[in-house]
Amino acid sequence: MQKCKIGIIGFGTVGKGIYKILKSKNDLHPILKDIEIVGIAVKNINKKRDTKLENNLLINDPYELIKDPNVDVIVEVMGGTDIARDIILKSLKARKSVVTANKAVIARYGNEIYSTAAKNGVYVLTEAAVCGGIPIIEPLKRSLKSNQINKMVGIINGTTNFILTKMSNEKADYEATLKLAQKLGFAEFDPTADVEGHDAADKISILSELAFGGKINRVSISTEGINQIDIKDIEYANKLGFEIKLLAFSERNAININDSLSLNIWVGPSLIPKSHPLATVDGVNNAILIDADPLGEIMLYGPGAGSGPTAASVVSDILNLQSSLTKDTKSIDPLLSFNFWRDCHIIE
Ligand code: NDP
Ligand code: HSE
Repeated sequence: MQKCKIGIIGFGTVGKGIYKILKSKNDLHPILKDIEIVGIAVKNINKKRDTKLENNLLINDPYELIKDPNVDVIVEVMGGTDIARDIILKSLKARKSVVTANKAVIARYGNEIYSTAAKNGVYVLTEAAVCGGIPIIEPLKRSLKSNQINKMVGIINGTTNFILTKMSNEKADYEATLKLAQKLGFAEFDPTADVEGHDAADKISILSELAFGGKINRVSISTEGINQIDIKDIEYANKLGFEIKLLAFSERNAININDSLSLNIWVGPSLIPKSHPLATVDGVNNAILIDADPLGEIMLYGPGAGSGPTAASVVSDILNLQSSLTKDTKSIDPLLSFNFWRDCHIIE
C-alpha cells in the first residue's frame, strides 16, 4: 500500500494524541507504519512543549504544508472557524483530502467544504468532530443507511457532562471543575462554547444533516447551556430522583410543512429519571440514542472527548483515506463515496 503522507495543523490535545498513536503504537499495529508525518504546523513555534518531537517537524506556517507536493492529506486539529475554513478550502483546492476534528467549522461551512471536495475529487472525513472517540459519523453515513432515522437524543458534550457529574456526585464547585476539564484537555479553547451549549449545537446540527439529509440552519437551533445551573438545582433534582444532563435533541416532525422536511432540534439542560440509560452516562463520556425504522432504538456510548479517544478517530479517518491515494482520482472509491448532501432541503 502506498504511504500516506500527512501534514498536521495543530499540536494541542488532539494533535499530540495523533503523534503519540503514530509514533508509539505502530509496533503493535503495523498498519500505522504506512502513515508518515511530513510536518506539524503550530501557532507559536517557540512554546515549551511536553511532548518531544523528532526531526524538526514543527513549523509555523500551515500553508507551507498545503503547498508541499509531498503531502497527501491535511489533518486540521487547530480549531476555530475562519482560519480553519480557509485552510480546509485551500487544501481541497490543492487536491489534498482533509481529516478534521473541527465541528465548529463543519457545522457552519460544511456545505461549501463538501462541495469543494467533490469538485476537486478529494475527501473530507470528520469522525472525531462529534462525540470524540465514539463512531457516530460513519454509522450514520453507512451502517444505518437503510433505516429512516426518526429521533436522536444524547449527551454529546464531554466537558459539561464532566462538570455536571462532579457537581452531582461530589458536590464539586462549578468554576473549579470547569478549570479541571480545561486542564484535562476536554474543553474548547474558549470553553463558553461548551458551557453555553454551542459545541453541542454544532454537533447535533452535523448529526441531523447526516441523519435527515439537507442543510440545517445552524443559528435556528434553540440553545441553552449549563452556566446557570447551581449546585442547589442538582441537589433538588437528585432528591426528586433525577439527574440534570445537557441534552441535544433532534426529531423528525410528524407533519411536514409545504412538503419539506420539518425537524425539532434543541440543546438544553434536562431532568432525566435516574433509571434512564442517559442518566448513568458519567464524566467525560457521551451517549446518543438513535430511534430508527425498522431498526428500533440503539445507544452509542463512550469517551466523548480527550486526547487518546479523539486522536484514535482522526487516525482511523486517515487510514480510511489511504485506500483512495492509490487510485486514479477519476475512479470512485466505493468506501468513500456517498451522497452526503442527499436532497438539499433547507431545514429551518
Ligand atoms: P488545543 O487548543 O489543545 O490545540 C490547538 C492547536 O492548534 C495548538 O497546537 C495551536 O498551536 C494550534 N493552532 C492554533 N491556531 C493556529 C494557527 N493559526 N496556525 C497553526 N496552528 C494553530 O485544541 P484541541 O487539540 O483540544 O482541539 C483541536 C480541534 O479538535 C478543535 O476543533 C476541537 O473542537 C476538536 N476536538 C477536540 C477534542 C478534545 O477532546 N480536545 C475532542 C474532539 C474534537 P500552539 O500549540 O502553538 O498554541
Ligand atoms: N469540548 C468538547 C467536549 C470536545 O467537551 O465535548 C469534544 O468534542
